[in-house]
Amino acid sequence: MKKIVVAVTGASGMIYARELFKQLREMDVEVHAIISEAGEQVLQLELDITREEFSDVTFWGIKQFTAPMASGSAGFHGMVVVPCTMGTLGAIASGLSQNLIHRAADVMLKERRPLILSVRETPLNRTHINNMLTAHDAGAIICPAMPSMYQKPKDLTEMAHNYSARLLELLGLEVTYSRWKGH
Ligand SMILES: Cc1cc2nc3c(=O)[nH]c(=O)nc-3n(C[C@H](O)[C@H](O)[C@H](O)COP(=O)(O)O)c2cc1C
Repeated sequence: MKKIVVAVTGASGMIYARELFKQLREMDVEVHAIISEAGEQVLQLELDITREEFSDVTFWGIKQFTAPMASGSAGFHGMVVVPCTMGTLGAIASGLSQNLIHRAADVMLKERRPLILSVRETPLNRTHINNMLTAHDAGAIICPAMPSMYQKPKDLTEMAHNYSARLLELLGLEVTYSRWKGH
């Protein structure tokens, strides 16, 4: 069974994380999660829920450097940061490893495993753009939280489902969502 890391940081777009966890529940995947302090705050603010909502997922402490994903030998398949703040992006781009999210991302890059960053900020300054390029060049996939509209999603949940399915697909998982079939 594949083991993946899902990290949630304090950017807007918690609906993407919620839809991603929902899809993972139906899949044969071992999910290990980490949430930053700001992530907990924004989760509460945007969705009126806490991480306990995802009771089927193992959450590791943000400073728990003894957690399995802090080492390459734990054999994780890949990691997604959703949503990903500019702060976490910067820490990953510069290899800071000051919390477990940064460290796990650093491990994915050094082990050449997929690392998907669902970055979210608007507008972007030069530092954000430079950090995206640095993280990209180090091996991360920058997949901005920019969901497509051409499927005409009936509501925000469907839009978030389609976008978070793309994140899982980039991780190499099999997903079902509304695909473009040509026109
Ligand atoms: C409601 C709310 C929304 C936020 N949205 C964003 C965002 O979209 N992108 C971003 O980079 N930071 C955003 N922030 C700021 C981050 O939460 C803040 O920079 C924090 O230090 C990031 O820490 P983390 O990367 O460890 O989660 C938001 C903060 C709040 C309270």
